[in-house]
Amino acid sequence: MIRSYLFVPGDDLKKLDRSQSSPADALIYDLEDSVGPDRKEAARTIVRDHIRARGAGGHHRTVRVNSFATGLTAGDLAVVMQAAPDSILLPKCEGQAELDRLGHMLDVLEAREGIAAGRTRILALVTETAPAVLVAASTRLTHPRLAALTWGAEDLSADIGAVAKTGPDGVLDDTFRYARVVCLLSASAAGVTPLDTVYADFRDLKGFEEECVTAKRMGFLSKMAIHPAQVEPINRIFSPSPAELDWARKVVDAFARAGNGGVTQMDGKMLDKPHLKLAQRLLGTA
Ligand code: COA
Ligand code: MG
Repeated sequence: MIRSYLFVPGDDLKKLDRSQSSPADALIYDLEDSVGPDRKEAARTIVRDHIRARGAGGHHRTVRVNSFATGLTAGDLAVVMQAAPDSILLPKCEGQAELDRLGHMLDVLEAREGIAAGRTRILALVTETAPAVLVAASTRLTHPRLAALTWGAEDLSADIGAVAKTGPDGVLDDTFRYARVVCLLSASAAGVTPLDTVYADFRDLKGFEEECVTAKRMGFLSKMAIHPAQVEPINRIFSPSPAELDWARKVVDAFARAGNGGVTQMDGKMLDKPHLKLAQRLLGTA
């Protein structure tokens, strides 16, 4: 189970080097927004060579390519697929046609590189523009390669012209809360992992932990980090706690004892099918 994804700018040799010892479950090598226009080409080969040099094992390795609107996506893939990353993160995804298009490109590149067909997973950022949010809210995105859906607030605020994402109290404005919920429900509908977005104020670890706790309560299973210091809190908060595992085991036991698969009780509280489902999900047996 992947809990933490650490973003690493794809042209930054120092951070690439440092990322190797991160306790993050996954690394996202970024070719998109953290790389300047004149470094786009260099970043492709730097990321490819970095992944190759590390070989298999260790972190799950994903590459965030540039969006289809930039015209750079095919060129990014043609280079980085030479190193067989575990997945591709598609930014500014505006619907099913883009997932299908990426899937077809990966079909061809896997064949070219001798990679097992279908091995490369897709992750998608589905709330970065206004049309993207509306599409994700109204269609059921799906793809055999799809592993996770995530959302972004920075690009969405730029797209709609919001001058800030939160009020003075730090609570997300409705637009962004909506985008977050759309991501969560879309991921659930697609049967893939919901992945919560980044927290830009990387010196504010208290605010970051609060955001992790909220995300976990909502049903997110993982979160993206932009700074190494954010990884440990993600791993801690998104791992099931001993108390949660204990509760889940007791619920499963209670149903086994009741033997009827329907309703039962534990410590004076009603338990029915949704509780069993949640417990099995926590135990990874759903
Ligand atoms: N991955 C790997 N190493 C990182 C890192 C990252 N994302 N962010 C910081 N580091 C390293 C720094 O290089 C520094 O290393 P050092 O101790 O060897 O000098 C150390 O961690 C401490 O970093 P710090 O000085 O606190 O931050 P910074 O000013 O160097 O960097 C950011 C701040 C925000 C620029 C940086 O964290 C970053 O580039 N994050 C990723 C941005 C990104 O990918 N954005 C796109 C997705 S939204
Ligand atoms: Mg962006």
